[in-house]
Amino acid sequence: MKNPKFKYLILFVLFFTTVSLSAQSTAPNYTAFYPGKIWKDSEGNHINAHGGGIMFKDGTYYWYGEHKGKSSLARVGITVYSSEDLYNWKNEGVALSVAKDPDSEITSGSVMERPKVVYNEKTDKYVMWFHLELKGQGYAAARTGVATSDSPTGPFTYIKSYRPNSKKWPQNFKEEWKETPKDGEPKEWWTPKWRKALNEGMFVRRDFEKGQMSRDMTIYIDTDGTAYHITSSEENQTLHISKLTDNYLDFTGEWIRMQPGGQNEAPAIFQKDGYYYMITSGLTGWAPNAARSFRAKSIMGPWEKLGNPARGKHADKTFFSQSTFILPVQGKEDSFIFMADRWKPENHIDGRYIWLPIEWENDKPIIRWKENWTL
Ligand code: GAL
Repeated sequence: MKNPKFKYLILFVLFFTTVSLSAQSTAPNYTAFYPGKIWKDSEGNHINAHGGGIMFKDGTYYWYGEHKGKSSLARVGITVYSSEDLYNWKNEGVALSVAKDPDSEITSGSVMERPKVVYNEKTDKYVMWFHLELKGQGYAAARTGVATSDSPTGPFTYIKSYRPNSKKWPQNFKEEWKETPKDGEPKEWWTPKWRKALNEGMFVRRDFEKGQMSRDMTIYIDTDGTAYHITSSEENQTLHISKLTDNYLDFTGEWIRMQPGGQNEAPAIFQKDGYYYMITSGLTGWAPNAARSFRAKSIMGPWEKLGNPARGKHADKTFFSQSTFILPVQGKEDSFIFMADRWKPENHIDGRYIWLPIEWENDKPIIRWKENWTL
């Protein structure tokens, strides 16, 4: 090669072709789900959207979840990814950012878990609810928080957080439970007396003025557009199902207790053929346990127990995962995906996603392990 300039040009072109080809090769092109494996986004990074939920809008799925580092404290906020096929996800960035202001309720170091986003037709807003724990207080605050945005990818603006249903009795609560018993409430936990008092509303009475505790939660939009907030309350012993206002930003005060003393967490809900179905976990923190399932004709109960929905090996540990959401696949009738987290508390960022199809056995929803599967 006579002209050295030409030689450099060729080397330059070769270098950039190699770099761009290798960058492309890190972008996966998935054609199936691989539960429990590293799941890369379109930039080649493991998806960071734990305890997530999915909203479908105008042909696109949006997956919102907890951004986690090594610890589970919120240092970034709630992330959002988008997809058209559910296999391949593009990182759309941070939907709701932690606040720089140290006095903000969502400041860095708070706990922001299980975000669920819904679209409100009437206000044309995207509404995000999530479990919030205040910085430095462990899990003591037990609040539910809400944020809104004009766009599915955010930025979401934080509005408020609180313990809901203050000064409102549940609809399925006996008149005589509204008064503290004459001999007081039992002090010692886990005794038969304590369990009876719990079932008969001891914690509801305790928190009546200041609002009910709210930890693991989800939001469900019914076919008529009504939104429901479902949360683990009463020291995680009882689920509370509450109707939200038309703009999805407040509680209406209409609510029920579900499975008092049942210790259900991680609620995920869907509807099929006139029944609501709910899958939950038991109460063992980050450690997996056996899932539970329920069915009801009305979302406001009564709810009937259907047992552990998992089948096969490791069904007693829900395949080492905990439910977070049940996704109706668009355009495929009666196709639902059970979404769960396989937590890695020693290094949270490595948490894995377990997505499995809902199958049916004697009219009960069940889940079986699959190494990989397609829609
Ligand atoms: C789990 C809950 C998670 C997280 C964790 C903290 O039971 O489902 O979302 O709150 O406890 O220990």
